[in-house]
Amino acid sequence: MNIQKRPETLARITTMEQANAFIEEQIQAIRAQVGADKVLLALSGGVDSSVVAALLVKAIGKQLVCVHVNHGLMRKNESENVIEVFQNQLDANLIYIDATDRFLDLLAGVSEPERKRKIIGAEFINVFADEARKLAGVKFLAQGTIYPDILESIKQAEGKKAVKSHHNVGGLPEDLQFELCEPLKFLFKDEVRVVGEALGLPHAMVYRQPFPGPGLGVRCLGAITRERLHALREADAILREEFDNAGLAGKVWQYFIAIPDMKSVGVKDDSRYEGWPAIIRAVNTTDAMTATIEEIPYAILHRITARITTEVEGINRVLYDLTPKPTGTIEWE
Ligand code: XMP
Repeated sequence: MNIQKRPETLARITTMEQANAFIEEQIQAIRAQVGADKVLLALSGGVDSSVVAALLVKAIGKQLVCVHVNHGLMRKNESENVIEVFQNQLDANLIYIDATDRFLDLLAGVSEPERKRKIIGAEFINVFADEARKLAGVKFLAQGTIYPDILESIKQAEGKKAVKSHHNVGGLPEDLQFELCEPLKFLFKDEVRVVGEALGLPHAMVYRQPFPGPGLGVRCLGAITRERLHALREADAILREEFDNAGLAGKVWQYFIAIPDMKSVGVKDDSRYEGWPAIIRAVNTTDAMTATIEEIPYAILHRITARITTEVEGINRVLYDLTPKPTGTIEWE
């Protein structure tokens, strides 16, 4: 595990000046670390990896090779958007890999959350290693690890349990052949956004809600099946569309659907209809260490419920999760 404490000399980054100073410092540090070697970056398209990509492009240009792995656990249209923004608009060096079958085959029948996370994290590294073998001279792996990932992966005190092993900290195999480059590892999420804006990334990208590395894999609860994953992806797209239409997208920090591995009895077209419940989670936070619940107007909840239960095959109920963090974590696994 790659665990270090945030340096006490690093002041909380809230202003553009502080962000610019951080960026200058990191550019020097990255150049000193990587020299003339190539760096692979896991570009998921989330805030963290996008900011790392922008920082590395600024520091080392075409020495950076961005790899976008579609692990089959992306949200609807997400991989297409990553290609559009980074390849077409930002002209980054981007390799797209569709590894859907590889991940879903490995995850078949696996229900324990920590095992799922570890499988996804380890397979990410395998995919990168395969890619690195094809590219000459890749020595470094850049990651969008941020400080809460590290804090939650270690025990905070004797007698306490680590909350969960985030895939980019706890899942690395010991024989990892890359050296790590993690320029955001001491930053909290709100600081990463300020740095992203200072780097000139579009506002919508920097303030986009976060998406966990294991993706829909930790929202398709228990053992993942392709059918339930498909239902989750469609329901999640409806939720996001309705939040956009209601003007909630920029207001609520993170919102998504989780679907448990259970069915209940329902009724549709006068017949018994057994289906999964879709659980709506909508939370606000500044640093993801604690979170409160967004009070969504009932009219919007009714509309989302009506759309999901009629448009998504296999879902017969919609539930709203009222649990803050703690005691829930933001994700369900
Ligand atoms: P939890 O569920 O721990 O989530 O309250 C806190 C924030 O972290 C995101 N999250 C992850 N991000 N890799 C990531 O990069 C992960 O493995 C991971 N797990 C959770 C989560 O979506 C929330 O924003």
